[in-house]
Amino acid sequence: MPQEIAYINGRFCPPREAMVSIEDRGFHFSDGIYEVVAAHHGRPFRLPQHMARLRQSVGGLDLPFDPDAYGLETVIHEGLTRSGFEHTLVYIQITRGVYPRQHICQVALEPTVVLTFKPLPPVPTERIEKGVSVKTAEDIRWGRCCIKAISLLPNVLLKNQAVREGFFDALLVTSSGEVRESCSSNVFLVKDGVLRTPPADEHILHGVTRGFILECASELGLPARETRIMEAELYSADEVFFTATTYNVMPITRINTRPIAGGCPGPITRRLYDYALRIIDEQSRVAAVA
Ligand code: PDD
Repeated sequence: MPQEIAYINGRFCPPREAMVSIEDRGFHFSDGIYEVVAAHHGRPFRLPQHMARLRQSVGGLDLPFDPDAYGLETVIHEGLTRSGFEHTLVYIQITRGVYPRQHICQVALEPTVVLTFKPLPPVPTERIEKGVSVKTAEDIRWGRCCIKAISLLPNVLLKNQAVREGFFDALLVTSSGEVRESCSSNVFLVKDGVLRTPPADEHILHGVTRGFILECASELGLPARETRIMEAELYSADEVFFTATTYNVMPITRINTRPIAGGCPGPITRRLYDYALRIIDEQSRVAAVA
C-alpha cells in the first residue's frame, strides 16, 4: 500500500511523527532552502537539474551542506521506494539548523534536513482544456529570487489574495511594468510563432520546467527567446502559459479582465504540453523496464 512518508535528519517516519525544534532557524527566520521534485513510477524527473539548483540555493545562503556527502540522492530514492506512489511529489527542505533565536549565527550548525513523499496531485483536465485566469500584482519580493529560499511570504500572500478574488495565481510585475513570473511558476508568451520568457537572472526562479520546456521547444523546432517581457505585451500575445514542476504547462486564457487570444488555450501551448507529457511518460517507462 502506498503511504505518505517523511524523512528527518537520517530517519524515515510517518509525517505526523516528524518534528523539528522550535529553535530551528527555518522556523525563526526562514533561514533555509527547498526543492520540489516530481517522480513518476519511482523515478524522479530531471533530478540532476533539481540537484544543481539545490546546490546553487545552498551556496546562495552559505549553508554548510554538501548533498553528495550527505547522500541526498540515496535518501530520495529510498523515500520513493518506501512511499510507493505512482506519481510522487518529493519536497526537500534544508535549514541552517537549531540555535537560540538571534540574527547572528557564526557557527556551522548541523543543517536540518527534511523530506516528504506525497502523491502528486493530478492536474484537472478542465484547466488544461480551458486554461486559467490570472491577475497581475506588484512584485514585492526580494532581489534574489533565483535562490529557492523557504521565505515565500510575498508569494503566499499574493497567491492567496489572487485565489480569494477567483484567480488561479498572480503574475508578478515590477512597478515599471516588467513581467517576472507568477507566485509559484515561470511565464512564457507566444507571439507570431516565437516563444518568449523572461531571462534567468536574479529576479526569477530558474525553473527546472522552464528549462525543460525550452528544450522541448528546440526539439519541436519552435524558436524561443529569453527576453524581457512588458505587461502590455501579454495582452497582445497569441498565447500565454505558466510552467512548474507540479503541472508542467498551464495555459493562461485571461489576465485580469482581458481574454488572451480569444480566451482559449493556443495550439503551441497544447503542443508543448503534449510533447512534455510524452517525454515524461517515455522516461518513466524506460525506468519501469530497466
Ligand atoms: N514552485 N517560480 C517560482 C516562484 C516557483 O515557486 C516555482 C516552483 C517556479 C517553477 O519552478 P520549477 O519548474 O522548477 O518547479 C517558478 C514550486 C513548485 C513550489 O514552490 O511548490
